Amino acid sequence: MPGSEESDTDIILERSLVDDETLVGLIIEEKRRKNAVILVHNYQRPEIQDIGDFIGDSLGLALKASETDSDVIVFCGVHFMAETAAIVNPDRIVLLPEIRAGCPMADMAPLDAVRKAKRLHPNAKVISYVNTTAAVKAESDYCCTSSNAVRVTQEVDADEILFLPDQNLAGYVAKQVTDKRIIPWEGYCHVHQGITAEHVLEALEKHPGAETIAHPECTDEILSIADHIRSTSGMVAAAQESSATEFIVATESGMIYPLKRAVPSKSFYPTANEPLCPNMKLITLSKVLWALETLEPRVVVPREVRARALIPVEKMLSL
Ligand code: 13P
Ligand code: SF4
Repeated sequence: MPGSEESDTDIILERSLVDDETLVGLIIEEKRRKNAVILVHNYQRPEIQDIGDFIGDSLGLALKASETDSDVIVFCGVHFMAETAAIVNPDRIVLLPEIRAGCPMADMAPLDAVRKAKRLHPNAKVISYVNTTAAVKAESDYCCTSSNAVRVTQEVDADEILFLPDQNLAGYVAKQVTDKRIIPWEGYCHVHQGITAEHVLEALEKHPGAETIAHPECTDEILSIADHIRSTSGMVAAAQESSATEFIVATESGMIYPLKRAVPSKSFYPTANEPLCPNMKLITLSKVLWALETLEPRVVVPREVRARALIPVEKMLSL
């Protein structure tokens, strides 16, 4: 309209009034024009998963990002995941359609505090869960994800390990790797921390034959009653491999969608509290389209930080 000043937010809001089918058509067209790939985490909204070229867990997404020859990576996940994509593939434009999509657990390990902890434990090697900022990865010896945390810890050549930022994942690893002293950081994921044994038992009461699959970010109380402990994509494999036909899924409820899609013959139920990660739900179809059209918002890791962060990430990817 002549004379009117429309902000980016107005345009995204207007777009959200357009039906999904039209938005998807425009996204596919723009994706082709920009030679882009859309990488999607398992917790994303179903309509975002449906437009993904690859849907997966943190490790799978990092690997895909490192391998792609597309010019643009549209990352539908949270900030640390997009940063990891920028670390492993610096020649691509990495877009995070909602730049405020963060991970509160990653923010629980600020750079200054990590440096201070390293000074307090000079003999310890630092393993950073992928849910950390690029700056913290740059201070770390190894990186890991929920699917390889035990393996990475076994590989580390040190008696003492500073494991950050998830105390629950650290506790889980410490139970498997008993010949090393694991010093846990006091961070946690609020989504997984909120799942209690009562929430699992309530779901089990409704589905008494079900097996429980839990994410290792859950507390020990949950992990001790779970039949399977897996990363998000590992949950799909567990459901495929198990003879059970019903599962209680102790993680973010968005995970039910990829599980049903991959294993349609079986049934999946969230824990009674139906946990949601609000950050993971911030990305919408209209924001994806806007990102593709404008090639913003970009996630850029400063060159010097990237060079140092790449070392622990590459050590993990090479396993
Ligand atoms: P995954 O790597 O298992 O997908 O976990 C990422 C995450 O943020 C879980 O809360
Ligand atoms: Fe972070 Fe938890 Fe959300 Fe995963 S579910 S992105 S760990 S806040």
